[in-house]
Amino acid sequence: MSTEPVQGEPLLKITDLQVAFSTMHGSVQAVDNASMELAAGSTLAIVGESGSGKSTTAMAAIGLLPGNGKVTGGSIRFDGQELVGMPESKLRRIRGEQIGLVPQDPMSNLNPVSKIGTQIAETLLTHRQATKKDVDQKVVAVMEQAGIPEAARRAKQYPHELSGGLRQRALIAIALACRPQLLIADEPTSALDVTVQQVILDQIGEMTQ
Ligand SMILES: Nc1ncnc2c1ncn2[C@@H]1O[C@H](COP(=O)(O)OP(=O)(O)OP(=O)(O)O)[C@@H](O)[C@H]1O
Ligand SMILES: [Mg+2]
Repeated sequence: MSTEPVQGEPLLKITDLQVAFSTMHGSVQAVDNASMELAAGSTLAIVGESGSGKSTTAMAAIGLLPGNGKVTGGSIRFDGQELVGMPESKLRRIRGEQIGLVPQDPMSNLNPVSKIGTQIAETLLTHRQATKKDVDQKVVAVMEQAGIPEAARRAKQYPHELSGGLRQRALIAIALACRPQLLIADEPTSALDVTVQQVILDQIGEMTQ
């Protein structure tokens, strides 16, 4: 939490957000006039039936809508800056560094041919949170914080060698590696069994604190 948000302004403020997807059957309105506010240091949960636009709202907030998706109206203000219409180069810096994302499906969101440690190292190096010299050590530290036991050994393994719970923790480690101001978690535990779900949620809570 290096930068304090502008006094009086929430960290994230979404106003009348509209998102549409262009499909073979024409344009589909996936998000229609969604508004929400999140103050720094607080938690906001979005609940809704399947297909109601939760993931789409989250992806819009991090500027990662799929190619056929587009924000067609409204505003997304993060830390005093308007994200709608922001150039990709600028967005790329905010993403990962100031906004972290824990995606819904751990298997399809980790690179299957890259070791866990390498994927975390990439995030740290890209955002200059580590140097080539100290990156290995920082990777292990980040993994330990995310509750991954035997982190040094696990760092050398590929995603398929880890259990679902450990893969999800690896994604949490990536999302929180740069200590972002905002963490967006899209059903981070849906793919896991109930006992592991609680552990992961506690872990996210602790790290967010
Ligand atoms: N890439 C896409 N192309 C076309 N339509 C899409 C695309 N992604 C999502 N949609 C549509 O947008 C709507 C919202 O989907 P979204 O995935 O945001 O819902 P959700 O609330 O996250 O659902 P779930 O609880 O199942 O994850 C749905 O009608 C969905 O079919
Ligand atoms: Mg979803």
